[in-house]
Amino acid sequence: MLTIAAIHIGYAQPIYKNKTAALENRVKDLVKRMTLEEKILQLNQFTFGINSNPNNIGAEIKSLPPGIGSLIYFSADPEQRNAIQRKAVDSSRLGIPILFGFDVIHGFRTVYPISIAQACSFNSDLVKENSKQAARESVLSGVDWTFSPMIDVARDPRWGRVSEGYGEDPYMNERFGVATVQGYQGENLSDSFSIAACLKHYVAYGLSEGGRDYRFTDVSPQSLWETYLPPYEACVKAGAATLMSGFNDISGVPATANHYTLTQILKQRWKHDGFVVADWNAIEQLINQGVAKDRKEAGLKAFMAGVEMDMKDGIYLEHFKTLVAEKKIPMANIEDAVARILRIKFRLGLFDNPYTTIVDAKERYLQPGAKALAAKLAEESMVLLKNNNNALPLSNQTKRIALIGPMAKDKDNIIGSWSFNGKAADAESIYEGLQKEYKNTTINYAKGCAFDGADETGFEEAIAAANQSDIIVVCLGELKTWSGENASRSTIALPAIQEKLVVALKKTGKPVILILSNGRPLELVRLEPLSDAIVEIWQPGIAGGTPLAGILSGRINPSAKLAITFPLTTGQIPTYYNMRQSARPFDKQGDYQDISTEPLYWFGHGLSYTNYEYSNVKIGKNQFKKNEKIIAMVTVKNTGKVNGKESVLWYITDPVCSISRPMKELKYFEKKEIKAGESVVYKFDIDPLRDLSYTDATGKRILQEGDYFIHVGKEKIKIELVK
Ligand code: NOJ
Repeated sequence: MLTIAAIHIGYAQPIYKNKTAALENRVKDLVKRMTLEEKILQLNQFTFGINSNPNNIGAEIKSLPPGIGSLIYFSADPEQRNAIQRKAVDSSRLGIPILFGFDVIHGFRTVYPISIAQACSFNSDLVKENSKQAARESVLSGVDWTFSPMIDVARDPRWGRVSEGYGEDPYMNERFGVATVQGYQGENLSDSFSIAACLKHYVAYGLSEGGRDYRFTDVSPQSLWETYLPPYEACVKAGAATLMSGFNDISGVPATANHYTLTQILKQRWKHDGFVVADWNAIEQLINQGVAKDRKEAGLKAFMAGVEMDMKDGIYLEHFKTLVAEKKIPMANIEDAVARILRIKFRLGLFDNPYTTIVDAKERYLQPGAKALAAKLAEESMVLLKNNNNALPLSNQTKRIALIGPMAKDKDNIIGSWSFNGKAADAESIYEGLQKEYKNTTINYAKGCAFDGADETGFEEAIAAANQSDIIVVCLGELKTWSGENASRSTIALPAIQEKLVVALKKTGKPVILILSNGRPLELVRLEPLSDAIVEIWQPGIAGGTPLAGILSGRINPSAKLAITFPLTTGQIPTYYNMRQSARPFDKQGDYQDISTEPLYWFGHGLSYTNYEYSNVKIGKNQFKKNEKIIAMVTVKNTGKVNGKESVLWYITDPVCSISRPMKELKYFEKKEIKAGESVVYKFDIDPLRDLSYTDATGKRILQEGDYFIHVGKEKIKIELVK
């Protein structure tokens, strides 16, 4: 029987506060109760704390209005979050919690390899696990929402942000984007260790002209649908809670004022019911981009195009009351935007549990499981680019190693950009990794030179170290500030001083093993001939030393492949595997006259200490109909002496179609372990509608009858789609 008090509470409790009410009813009920001012506040994000990102400097907000939508939380202190949250919940009229966002890009405190490296692992399950760990550390620090993953297909390595995405291929960005979203968001956004994902930078930001950041992108409708939108569509389908609109101007209509991409595609066609946040200052920048005369018009354009949240600009807060009064912004749009933001807050469980559970700082970060995953991902993302005459692994007879170069003892750059809470002290250097691995070997270290500049005074010591050793391991690379946001470079070669060091070392006659740690493909045209072996370790995060040492010693068999092509020279840019066919694809017609047109290393390149033989490619049937599913299979044998992991990449080509299609399109990949001497069968379930069709310039999928080819390794089989 109900008591009077219970009946009273039942009546008094608004639906939006009732945990058992349907989520959409809670959203509707709350929106109904809000004043215009309260609604507008929800559409704004401010910055809490000092922004340590030099590209995104903004005033620190000292006194936050209660009832604000979101904060970028430049702090790792959960108690501080709880205090801010308490103020919002207790002193705003309706007790709406704040959404705490932050750039958790490749880990929070446990820093994982940068995203381009993650993609080279071809192990999306592992990336999902790492993202889960990153979410756990974020939640325990007070973060509910990360501005990640970046799924911008990027084919110009001069653009510093190639480090933040999954490379040149749409399917790679789709697979790794989905894995990352699933890792962050878990089964359910309200699970204790889930955080909301934010797909960025919607859309085609990776096409920044000339690789210069923040620039114009000239995107044809065909390439928008074929190359740049598919990763977003897949991640939206996978449930990504939010998106960030890009800085770029898409063929004349900036991404942050683009009704077509933000509303017609995202909300109307894909039915996304979360929200879009503008990138930092992107709304105000509409003035610079020449589509708004002032802040007010910029706000109006961004909002009416479909940007629900203003990141830091304060424009929505400043002008929306007037814009509503002037009837330029309909109330229905404001309410829809507010509902989208509240929906994510409800899904995250913030209304029912707004505070972070405080656990001891020692249990928060760098847990053994998280560190082991970081090392595993680093190991699987290091690419063996070259290995002449089996220079690697280093024989266990190696008594003396010369470890040379500015990256050899580095702990700061090796963790990569976008690692705000990462600490150099947590990282393991290459030197430390080698010391652990080679207990009975003398390691003769010399720095040789700095990352840049003209000072050659360290060369002498480096040459002496080389002369006293059996082999030279030279560790070069980029500072972490050379990639990431606002880090474009006109050449992708390493600074001349680093190349000169290798030239000097080569003169000793000792074998040269080149180790590269960088955030973009490099121009290796001069370094490659000087090196007996090359290992690309990217920026592996905190746990790179031991995995690299394991690869050098042969304890670990490298298994990564490139997710992005390494051009021979900067002048070859753009070069990527899925180009369209030339009109004269023979006799080197149309090729460069002065250099080879072939890049140095194609997408998919990566060596191992064993050999894999692909055979017995089979297909269920060679002729099939549109709605039939077929299975392709290949047997891969490890013909060498050591166990390994092989990623099998399945491509399709469509030689004759209404439009000219890319020469090859990756449709599926799978990585499996194969023991020495054993064979493993890999399968590709072909769904014709998904895998053989193409999209036209309006996004319509078209599947045409005719011949297709399935490529795997060097094998190729023809299949025919019939009526
Ligand atoms: C600007 C960057 O473009 C974006 O990737 C990042 O998430 C925001 N700043 C917030 O820091």
